[in-house]
Amino acid sequence: MTLLIAPIVVSLISGGLALVIAIVDGIVNNYGEVDIDINDGKKVLKVKGGAPLLQTLSSQGIFVPSACGGRGSCGACKVKVLSDVGPHLPTELPYMSKEEIQQNIRLSCQIKLKKPIKIYLPEELFNIRKFKGIVESLKDVTYDIKELRIRLVEPNEINFKAGQYVQLVIPPYENVKESTQRAYSISSAPSDKNHVELLIRLVPGGIATTYVHKYMKEGDVVEVVGPFGEFYMRDTNADMVMVAGGSGMAPIKSIILDMLERGITNRNVWYFFGARSKRDLYYVEMFREIEKKWPNFHFIPALSDPLPEDNWDGETGLITNVLDKYLQTVLPKDTPKEGYLCGSPGMINACIQVFEKYGVKDVYYDKFA
Ligand SMILES: Cc1cc2nc3c(=O)[nH]c(=O)nc-3n(C[C@H](O)[C@H](O)[C@H](O)COP(=O)(O)OP(=O)(O)OC[C@H]3O[C@@H](n4cnc5c(N)ncnc54)[C@H](O)[C@@H]3O)c2cc1C
Ligand code: FES
Repeated sequence: MTLLIAPIVVSLISGGLALVIAIVDGIVNNYGEVDIDINDGKKVLKVKGGAPLLQTLSSQGIFVPSACGGRGSCGACKVKVLSDVGPHLPTELPYMSKEEIQQNIRLSCQIKLKKPIKIYLPEELFNIRKFKGIVESLKDVTYDIKELRIRLVEPNEINFKAGQYVQLVIPPYENVKESTQRAYSISSAPSDKNHVELLIRLVPGGIATTYVHKYMKEGDVVEVVGPFGEFYMRDTNADMVMVAGGSGMAPIKSIILDMLERGITNRNVWYFFGARSKRDLYYVEMFREIEKKWPNFHFIPALSDPLPEDNWDGETGLITNVLDKYLQTVLPKDTPKEGYLCGSPGMINACIQVFEKYGVKDVYYDKFA
């Protein structure tokens, strides 16, 4: 008898405790209505308190960049806070420089709205929109990268700079109970205003990429927010040295298509694409065709681990070594150069070191982390 009663009592106590915690949480977290004062009263939002600043702004149609969906792991959602919201949290500190801490720059996904707050937002953030679209096509371009082409419906046009990214909204599915967002660079040209094309590499166990690779299908309704980012072609005459790996192809493809369409073909461009073996290469034919139309454009794919059946007679080795070799022996020495890098943080850090060796200081990148 005692054996039967004990589990019932335990479950009653724990059930009761959960209820008490929920009630207390409800009371404690009832912050009522709070004001968000943006840019010295230029806009004042009256919102329900209790949620993070990032999500609250987004619910009001103001989209701060967020590559990780508000998990505090990308550092993209920085906002200057002009009122006192307490000291920086341990989750914010890894993403802050000394100057940013002094200026009270904060991760907006980590700031819970408990009282009125004053913030500064750059003007361009007010132009960022949420778009509804339809999956027009979803194709394998390699065994682990899909090309996702979205036709925009509402609004049906996007203006962006080649190289920028959008946040793809992932709805709840299977064990993923909440909607989330991840950053993906646009791979199509800005002239194609009615579409957003993305290249998405499967990260095993990853929330967004598993959804796109295993659940998404043509005809689905999807949402993207954007455009965001500072990775775009700088308007100079410097030679452009571009390096990508995997889905890092996306923004570089957009930049190259855009330059070709706008006739900016007087600039020298070297595009190094690093892959393990031939099965990781894609769009090679397209870039070979571009080389024919644009004599100053050079496409250099390199394989670090070519298979015997690849019959590869192109460049081999790590892309950093190939870049080093070209900077030493092929590229002109006396011209100004800019670096454009996209892919894994490891590849980007290693390439920056190579650029430093050759005095290339203007280096722009998007780390896909
Ligand atoms: C500005 C920007 C642009 C980006 N553009 C692209 C793009 O064009 N194409 C693209 O495929 N990705 C891009 N990314 C990366 C993308 O935003 C996601 O981080 C990535 O797709 C993983 O998301 P997920 O939800 O599937 O994995 P998550 O659920 O976020 O992560 C699952 C696990 O995998 C790890 N992980 C996360 N990312 C990677 C990775 N890249 N490689 C290995 N392990 C990882 C995490 O640490 C975690 O342990 C971009 C990122 C940024 C910041
Ligand atoms: S949204 Fe990624 S750290 Fe805040």
